[in-house]
Amino acid sequence: MQTPDEKKTFVKEKFSSISHKYDFLNSLLSFQIDRYWRWVTTRELKMFPDGAVLDLCAGTLPLSLELTRQAPARQVVAIDFCEDMLRAGIKTLPVDSRRQRIFPVCGDGEKIPARDKSFWGITVAFGVRNLGRTQDGLNEMHRVLKPCGKLLILEFSRPRNVIVKPVYSFYLNTVLPKVAGIVSGDKEAYEYLASSIAAFYEPEELLGMMKKAGFAEVSRRPLTFGIVSVYIGVK
Ligand SMILES: C[S@@+](CC[C@H](N)C(=O)[O-])C[C@H]1O[C@@H](n2cnc3c(N)ncnc32)[C@H](O)[C@@H]1O
Repeated sequence: MQTPDEKKTFVKEKFSSISHKYDFLNSLLSFQIDRYWRWVTTRELKMFPDGAVLDLCAGTLPLSLELTRQAPARQVVAIDFCEDMLRAGIKTLPVDSRRQRIFPVCGDGEKIPARDKSFWGITVAFGVRNLGRTQDGLNEMHRVLKPCGKLLILEFSRPRNVIVKPVYSFYLNTVLPKVAGIVSGDKEAYEYLASSIAAFYEPEELLGMMKKAGFAEVSRRPLTFGIVSVYIGVK
């Protein structure tokens, strides 16, 4: 059993090791459905077309890009504690106006380097599961959000459908680590993906933690048979 700090060190090392292959593997292993998931998540912020949005655990910046694509006046502060992931993302940014509206920052999601009430919206795609201290991260998200601002968490959940569940489980635990291990050279990183999904909170628990952090109107929108969910909260 890892301590929260041991988990953080492990997570940082794993993302650093796969950073150069992360985008390619994401598209390959999700059959590009991840693009749809990010599109749906970003659409939830359409009432805030300008001003600053925080993309936390931004990684290689795919969601930051979608946030700037959907709103030409929006600015995105993209925070991640793994410098290699951010660097890999910066390399692939398109040479257009979106590049000028994305501000990558190396920082910890459990101690967000931003003032209180800084952002209208916060997105966290596939990041909350990786935090060492989930409740601390949620408290911080609440702190840096403006009143009436919106939090969107896109995260893996476990499908409950009796047909989808075993097929998905076989894919996640057997096929995915093998293929991703060969392509990335780090099988352990993708075994961690499967085990972290299995160990993650039930949706109701996460919604409860969001409430505890101070969020109101919390809700969950399952996508693709519940393989992922968008969790929504308002400050
Ligand atoms: C699965 S990736 C997701 C990247 C991106 N959001 C996406 O949609 O593909 C998870 C990211 O969370 C970052 N991360 C994990 N724990 C973090 C923490 N405590 N603070 C900041 N970033 C963290 C990792 O470095 C990694 O880049």
